[in-house]
Amino acid sequence: MDKLCIEGGRALNGTITVSGSKNAALPILFGCILAQGTVRLSNVPRLRDISTTLKLLEILGCRTTFEGNEVTVRPEKIVPEAPYELVKTMRASVLCLGPLLALLGQAKVSLPGGCAIGARPVNLHLSALELMGAEFELDSGYIYGRCDKLKGAHITFDFPTVGGTENLLMAAALAQGETVLENSAREPEVVDLANFLNAMGAKITGQGTSIIRIQGVSSLTGTDYRVMPDRIEAGTYIVAGVITGGEVVIQDCPFQELDAVTYKLREMGVWLEEKDGCALVKRHGELVGVDLVTQPFPGFPTDMQAQLMTLMCLAKGTGVIEEKIFENRFMHVQELVRLGADIRLKGRTAVVRGVPKLVGAPVMASDLRASASLVLAGLAAQGKTEVLRIYHLDRGYENLEAKLAGVGARVWREKE
Ligand code: UD1
Repeated sequence: MDKLCIEGGRALNGTITVSGSKNAALPILFGCILAQGTVRLSNVPRLRDISTTLKLLEILGCRTTFEGNEVTVRPEKIVPEAPYELVKTMRASVLCLGPLLALLGQAKVSLPGGCAIGARPVNLHLSALELMGAEFELDSGYIYGRCDKLKGAHITFDFPTVGGTENLLMAAALAQGETVLENSAREPEVVDLANFLNAMGAKITGQGTSIIRIQGVSSLTGTDYRVMPDRIEAGTYIVAGVITGGEVVIQDCPFQELDAVTYKLREMGVWLEEKDGCALVKRHGELVGVDLVTQPFPGFPTDMQAQLMTLMCLAKGTGVIEEKIFENRFMHVQELVRLGADIRLKGRTAVVRGVPKLVGAPVMASDLRASASLVLAGLAAQGKTEVLRIYHLDRGYENLEAKLAGVGARVWREKE
């Protein structure tokens, strides 16, 4: 297992280019199952979750290639079984359920199970697919799904689930008649998937709003598509620049999709400007703590909560962070405290009191965004920080060390 070593306290200066979005690329890759013909995707980040998905697509009967940041997927004879060995390592595997049911009328997909940030059930995916005519049985850790041709339906989600909306978009694209999804997720990655499906010939309107309409079509074709840039990666590097007191330019920054984040950063005292698709970022005087609540898009993203918390650790005053999406997404708190942070937890709320400095120490990464927050803390801390179990980071940040080293960070990988 690898660990990441960081010699902190150096201001980062220069340009960091944002990679393609992991959370957009994953559903789009599962959407490829529906194509009759070859799909060519560009701007796909080279990450472990992407390789896992390509392995799963191969098992499901697709031919795939991955060169540079380009992926091709050619579905051949699709089979309906997603085995536990792959699904257990990546929860997003459950996104093959919708496409398999739409295409084959059957699916056997391992239940993803729990993960570090909470129970994360898939009940909303299943009950919505049931309204389209699917029937499910859970047996020996697998979801067995079956249907005749899926039928369009009027579905109102109890909660605007991102994965649930994506599974339903893919299922409804090939269903008979019209499907209306109400209270659907408005995340930019959902919009990217809908645009991709439309490029294959689907008839989807309303993506980006809470009511999406899908007119089922009889088949979808191959296409070429460029994956959107990663808003969470962009946000993480913005914080990296600010927390070290440097000045960074974030290239290919999806500024619009980061509204809730830039709003909070400005409230904290960060200077941000948009210019030609880049974000220019630096501190604007002293940073101050602010209150924030994570919410579905367009609210503040849970995937940026840990990074903002780290920044608040070094701000003046107190900030209160309420985590409303996942019940157990404060695993980074104890590790930040080991570096000298002052954070009190009460249920889903964290009270962060700013301290003048953090001091490097070995810390343990628990999930993807928690790991990112520990790297940020290490960049700002005095002395050496070692982030253990960085395989989490490899799931979500392309070339992390190279990108940080490129703007002056002293960071390297060692065997644990
Ligand atoms: C996606 C993102 C993840 C992000 C999250 C919220 C991907 C691959 N992952 O995850 O990075 O943090 O959106 O923005 O895109 N829920 C249920 N039942 C369900 C589905 C969800 O109770 O059937 C609950 C979950 O437990 C969670 C909340 O709803 O508490 C949000 O989940 P959801 O929006 O579905 O997130 P994911 O698609 O899993």
